[in-house]
Amino acid sequence: MASTMLSVASASPFASLSPLENVKGKLKLGSASLSFNKAKGNPFINAKSFCRISMVAAVNASRFESVTMAPPDPILGVSEAFRADTHESKLNLGVGAYRTEELQPYVLDVVKKAENLMVERGENKEYLPIEGLAAFNKVTAELLFGADNPVIKQQRVATVQGLSGTGSLRLAAALIERYFPGAKVLISSPTWGNHKNIFNDSRVPWSEYRYYDPKTVGLDFEGMIADIKAAPEGSFVLLHGCAHNPTGIDPTPEQWEKIANVIQAKSHIPFFDVAYQGFASGSLDTDAASVRLFTARGMELLVAQSYSKNLGLYAERIGAINVVCSSADAAARVKSQLKRLARPMYSNPPIHGARIVANVVGDPALFNEWKAEMEMMAGRIKNVRQKLYDSLSAKDKSGKDWSFILKQIGMFSFTGLNIDQSANMTSKWHVYMTKDGRISLAGLSLAKCDYLADAIVDSFHNVS
Ligand SMILES: Cc1ncc(COP(=O)(O)O)c(C=O)c1O
Repeated sequence: MASTMLSVASASPFASLSPLENVKGKLKLGSASLSFNKAKGNPFINAKSFCRISMVAAVNASRFESVTMAPPDPILGVSEAFRADTHESKLNLGVGAYRTEELQPYVLDVVKKAENLMVERGENKEYLPIEGLAAFNKVTAELLFGADNPVIKQQRVATVQGLSGTGSLRLAAALIERYFPGAKVLISSPTWGNHKNIFNDSRVPWSEYRYYDPKTVGLDFEGMIADIKAAPEGSFVLLHGCAHNPTGIDPTPEQWEKIANVIQAKSHIPFFDVAYQGFASGSLDTDAASVRLFTARGMELLVAQSYSKNLGLYAERIGAINVVCSSADAAARVKSQLKRLARPMYSNPPIHGARIVANVVGDPALFNEWKAEMEMMAGRIKNVRQKLYDSLSAKDKSGKDWSFILKQIGMFSFTGLNIDQSANMTSKWHVYMTKDGRISLAGLSLAKCDYLADAIVDSFHNVS
């Protein structure tokens, strides 16, 4: 009956307004239909029930019939499936969020201190300007480039606070779409899944450059260079500043130099995504080395920053887009256009996370405490990485070399498991991970390494 009611209304949203005497119509039920009118026995002849039914129909009818069900997000959907699993050994290695050794979410002490300061100061909740909190924009650019960097001193960086890494990438994509029509963005194969969504939704064309070599479970450096070389001059090249997601494989400093050479030779524009500064090596400066190398060569470039991981501010949505320009004048113009793009998208950014970052980075004592906490988090992940390697080497009697895991960096490890093997990890072992074989080591504890190693060895050898 429900679908009958729906069909009446979809014939006309104003069906309930028809005078009863003149009711004529067609009921559609799937492919079948039923014609009726009052004289031949209208099913709605009872005036009271007709009104009730047709009112329900008007409410139930959807103007969004053509909207299809979207598939679950490949990364966030993993957490939903994990929550639904009741198995005691289940393990969520899908989302890249830091967990303690007890596998609990972690709020940094330094963040709590910064929040207490905010409460003590009784700070208000007035709107921020479109470009965000000035104190945040200042410290975030300094943290990335180094406070003494000439690009900062010469005011050649346009910095705008963004809605974390994703929102900052999105703003940059909107800038590319508006001012570089037709320009292509080159993204690594593979890359963080949301990159493609961001450029698709921004109507920015993209193509992939080779990055991961399944044979070595390492970097396909030759392929990467060849593809960047082959791209049309003036393309944007999206680079993960450190801790490449999903592979955990970063170029060496020498390789970064060569990448910069080819990008410069082709007049491409580097576009860095820095979502893990400090979280990869434990050092903020080491993890910014790639960005600083390109900057030191005098190149114009873009950098999207995120504080989700390194300050654990996932839900605060705090990050920034920085555009390094060849002159202060160009930077001022770029900034004005970034603001113009942001205004109709979200008007102005949220203040809470911006104040936390400004308080932590801007205060020498808190800044040092943060660095120590970040080292602790990065250190825990390194320990887990080592233990997983040890467990795999001990359990796998086939002689397979698992040392590629130790060469990877950051939160993630690309296990080399294929889609069916990854599916086995979930269906048989209750280990939740993305289909591409990526696991988040930040969601793993030392205590669970043996269990995970059993699951990986079984999936690798017993599923083709
Ligand atoms: C490579 C990369 N870029 C950007 C982001 C953006 O994250 P957020 O929007 O939470 O800052 C992530 C998060 O996983 C990431 O891995």
